[in-house]
Amino acid sequence: MSQVDLSVQIGSLKLRNPIILASGTVGYGNEISEFANLNNLGAIVTKSLSLKPRKGNPPQRIVETSAGMLNAIGLANIGVEEFVKEKIPFLKKYDVPLICNIAASTVEEYVECTRILNDEETIKAFEINVSCPNVKDGGLQFGNDVSSVGNVTAKVRAITKKPLIIKLSPNVSYISEFAKVVKDEGGDAVSAINTLVGTAFNIFTRKPKIFNINGGLSGPAIKPVALAKVLEISRKVNIPIIGIGGIMNWKDVIEFMIVGASAVQIGTLNFIDPSAPEKIIKELEDYCTTSGVKKISEITASYII
Ligand SMILES: Cc1cc2nc3c(=O)[nH]c(=O)nc-3n(C[C@H](O)[C@H](O)[C@H](O)COP(=O)(O)O)c2cc1C
Repeated sequence: MSQVDLSVQIGSLKLRNPIILASGTVGYGNEISEFANLNNLGAIVTKSLSLKPRKGNPPQRIVETSAGMLNAIGLANIGVEEFVKEKIPFLKKYDVPLICNIAASTVEEYVECTRILNDEETIKAFEINVSCPNVKDGGLQFGNDVSSVGNVTAKVRAITKKPLIIKLSPNVSYISEFAKVVKDEGGDAVSAINTLVGTAFNIFTRKPKIFNINGGLSGPAIKPVALAKVLEISRKVNIPIIGIGGIMNWKDVIEFMIVGASAVQIGTLNFIDPSAPEKIIKELEDYCTTSGVKKISEITASYII
């Protein structure tokens, strides 16, 4: 029996370990269940769900870059009603906290999606995506405006008692201003970061490599940016942070925790090795044992500056 306590707390949400699978990189959990035992993970986050099904952007939607990838999926998803009918029964078979990520074009749509999902006992928390760079309405239109983020937080807070996490955009000057408004309006936590706006061109055709022209950059290329954003929030606002961005191994997880993350999400790595998150959990345990860390949560915001 391990002596290490890997559990972490995000508001009222208790996780058995800090490893969460990030939105958009594991479908609705079913897509990764062949490669990983979901019951070993801290939590999983669904692909962003919208009120109505969305086809997303036409291809090309993904391109590899140095140390990362650009995606412009455009929030393709089956919609909340289909999700409840088709995906929840599968997810009920697992003992892993399910976090539902919601995307919308209007505040009313965020509220309506949350209302439809709120009664589902399997759903343990909501993550509100106000930061998708790949859609015309919603997305960054909300994510770049402090009062809009505050308004969405307050309106969704009013209709659910479940833990409410707001997923912040890194495409802003001061991310801590957004974290502050989330806290002030009753949000339980923030996740940081979503992807950074980027592009790539074919030098022979002189055309963009992705249909949408711009995409969201993810992977190891964004880790230093993500660490700086998490640290900024941690130093300025007293709110639990879920760190995201370029995590490739257990050392990256520890680094995110040191700068202020209570838990982390793993995204792009799932496309390279979908069994990696489970291995990382074991490696975190080994690190704690060899470093004399009894509770992994003690590492959160333990930076020395
Ligand atoms: C293909 C792809 C699809 C994504 N879809 C979503 C999404 O639907 N909703 C969302 O909030 N984030 C989405 N993301 C962002 C990730 O959840 C994560 O914030 C980002 O990729 C940074 O983490 P990473 O560097 O570990 O991938 C997506 C990322 C990728 C690569």
